[in-house]
Amino acid sequence: MSRALKGNLDAGLRSESSPLVLAVETSCDETAVAIIRGTEGILVSEIASQVELHAPYGGVVPEIASRNHNLGLKPLLKRAMALSGISLSEIDALAATSGPGLASSLLIGDTTAKALALGLNRPFFSVNHMEGHLLSPFIGSSHGVRPNLSLIVSGGHTQIVKVNHIGEYQVLGKTRDDAAGEAFDKVGKMLGLPYPGGPEIDRRSDLGDSSAFEFPRSMIDSGDDHFSFSGIKTSVFYLLEKLEKPLSDQTINDVCSSFQKAVIDVLVAKLFAAAERFDASLVTVSGGVSCNRSLRLAMKQAAARQKMELLMAKPVYSTDNAAMIAFAAACRLENGFSPSPLDADIDPNMVL
Ligand code: KG4
Ligand code: ZN
Repeated sequence: MSRALKGNLDAGLRSESSPLVLAVETSCDETAVAIIRGTEGILVSEIASQVELHAPYGGVVPEIASRNHNLGLKPLLKRAMALSGISLSEIDALAATSGPGLASSLLIGDTTAKALALGLNRPFFSVNHMEGHLLSPFIGSSHGVRPNLSLIVSGGHTQIVKVNHIGEYQVLGKTRDDAAGEAFDKVGKMLGLPYPGGPEIDRRSDLGDSSAFEFPRSMIDSGDDHFSFSGIKTSVFYLLEKLEKPLSDQTINDVCSSFQKAVIDVLVAKLFAAAERFDASLVTVSGGVSCNRSLRLAMKQAAARQKMELLMAKPVYSTDNAAMIAFAAACRLENGFSPSPLDADIDPNMVL
C-alpha cells in the first residue's frame, strides 16, 4: 500500500462531535449525493434519475447508466454542496456504495468518493447498498437503530433480515428467483405499462378489483423465510394469453390490483411470521417496493393486529438514494467502525 493511501487511512476525523458525512450512490440507474450531520439529520439528499433514459429499453442498460453517472455526478455534487451551504473542506468523512450493483455504475461513485477522501485527507467508508436500505427506516428517528426484524423489498432483492446491531445482520431468507420489484416491473411490461412498472401498478390498482383474478401466493406457508415471485409472474403471463385483446383499461387495472394483492399478501404474511418466530417487537420495511401505498397500509394493519411496532422507510428514502448510504456510514462512524481501505475493490455481488 502506498504511503499516501496509508496516510489517508490513518487520518482522524476533522471534528469530534456530529461529523459531516458526504455519500455517493451510483449502484444502478440513480445518481445520488447526500450529506448527513451525525446520525441525526440529513442536510441534503439529491437524486438525478435516469429513468427516462432507460425507459425506451424497458430496463436498465448498464453502459447508458455508467456513462450518465459519469456525466451527472460532478454537477450533482456541486448542487448538493451549494444547497447544503457547506464547503468541501468542512466534510469529515466520505462514503460510497461499493456493492451490490452494476460494476460499471458502482465504479463511478466509489472512485469519485475515494478521490475526494484522498484529496481532502479524510476517512472513506465503503457501504453495502443493502445495509443502506436495511437501516433507512431509522433515518430521522430519535431513538437510533434498534434490534428488529426487517423486510428489504426492492427491484433487485427481497430479503428478511434479523438486525441485531449495526454491522451484525443475519439474512434469514431471500427470493429464490425474481425480486418482488422485478416481478412488478415484468408484469408492467407484459401489460404494456411504462417503465418501471411498480409505481404504475400501484396507481392502477386503486382503480381495479383485487379479487377479479386469482394468482398464487407462492411459498406463503413454506415455514421458512424464502420467497418466490416467478410463479405469480408466469400465471399473469398465462392469463394474458387467454384474455381477449386489446385489453380494456378496466381489465388492465383488475390484473394490476389482483397481482399486487397477491404479492402484498405474501410479503406481509412472511414478515410477520418471521417476527413472531423470533419474538421481535419491532419490524421494519425498506426498498423501492415499500413506496407501494397498499403495501404500507397492509403492513400497518398487520402490525396493529399483532401488536408490534412498525417502522417503514419514508418513500423518499425507499427508492435508491444517497441519504441511506450517508446514514449507514454515520452509524458505522458512531459505533467505532474503522474506515475502509482506499484500495478496496467494488463488489457487484456483495452480500450483507
Ligand atoms: O430500491 P430500488 O429503488 O432499487 C433497487 O435497489 O432495486 O427499487 C426499485 C424497485 C422497482 O422495481 C420499482 O418498480 C419498485 O421499486 N417500486 C414500486 C413502487 N415504487 C417503486 N413497486 C411497487 N409500488 C410502488 N409504488
Ligand atoms: Zn436499492
